[in-house]
Parts: sequence; C-alpha cells; structure tokens
Amino acid sequence: MSQNNLKKIVLTVNGKEYTASVEPRMLLSDVLRDELGLTGTHVGCEHGICGACTIIMDGRPVRSCLVFGVQADRAEIRTVEGLAEPDGSLHPLQEAFWEKHGLQCGFCTPGVLMSACHFLEQNPNPSREEIREGISGNLCRCTGYQNIVDAVEMAAEFLNKHKKSEEETSDIESVHSGRKVEV
Ligand code: FES
Ligand code: FES
Repeated sequence: MSQNNLKKIVLTVNGKEYTASVEPRMLLSDVLRDELGLTGTHVGCEHGICGACTIIMDGRPVRSCLVFGVQADRAEIRTVEGLAEPDGSLHPLQEAFWEKHGLQCGFCTPGVLMSACHFLEQNPNPSREEIREGISGNLCRCTGYQNIVDAVEMAAEFLNKHKKSEEETSDIESVHSGRKVEV
C-alpha cells in the first residue's frame, strides 16, 4: 500500500496519547497490538463473536475487531494494560480473578476484565444473574464461567469496601478541617 493511503490517527489509550499512520482497512484491535504494542487486547474470532478483543472506547465497551482504527481517531480508549496502577498494584478485578481462579488459559481474560470493569461501574451491586448477563458477550472455552462469576462478585465487594473507606476518610478529613458539623 502506498504511503499516500495511510491515515494519521491520534488515540488516547490509558491516558497516554499515541499517533499512528494506518491503512484505512486496519482494525482497531490490530492498531492497538501491532502499531502501539499493546498486546494485552487479544484477538480470537475477528468477527465480533468471542469478545476477547473488548476494550472501553469513549466510555462504552466495544469489540475492537469490529472498529476500524480510523474510526477511533481522537477516541479515549481503555485497555487491560490500564487496569493496574502505575506502581503495578492490581485492580480489584485482577485481584479477585487471582483469588478465585477466574481464568485458566487466560485467552479470554483481557476481554472479560474490560467487560466486567464497565459492568461494575454501571452496576456496583449486581446479583449473580446480572453478572452472568453482564459478561455474556465474552466467550470462555475453559472455565465454565463459575469462577469468573465468583471473581466479579468478589471484585464488587472489594470495590464497594474501597469506596466506603474512601468516604469514611473524607468524612474524617472534613471533621478535622472543621467543615463537618452533623453527626
Ligand atoms: S476477536 Fe473481536 S469479538 Fe472475537
Ligand atoms: S480462560 Fe481460557 S478461554 Fe477463558
């Protein structure tokens, strides 16, 4: 393909801005993996069936194999690489998957994590049935889903505890700064 057919795109991925020159037919999943080196996003079916390539784009989970890179120009993207903290501490979902053995081969895991991450942001107190529904777009060939559901349930508990302790800390800070008056 001639250089003239390359399109320049700018993406913000996990808070960092990237520029790439891509063919218009190049899939976003391939842009992430091959152009930006973010190989945490997996590619299984390339047909929108398996969910392995799920990322969060502009606040919504999308299958990156169903989006052309050029369509993602100027988009804000989150991939599995953005879940852990910069110091390497795991996201509560990753911790819960570790604790509950929510993966076997791990191929589906990045997509499941991104779907679950968005799902828990929308529904912080889900029932097990809702969790099953929330991750139903992600196929797993290994686990039978039981441990994945257990892990998402545990992650919801982790996140809620974390939120509660943050609220308590901010209450204490308010009291110490003299701003808190009610008891
Ligand atoms: S690789 Fe995108 S849905 Fe399967
Ligand atoms: S852990 Fe192997 S496909 Fe899900």
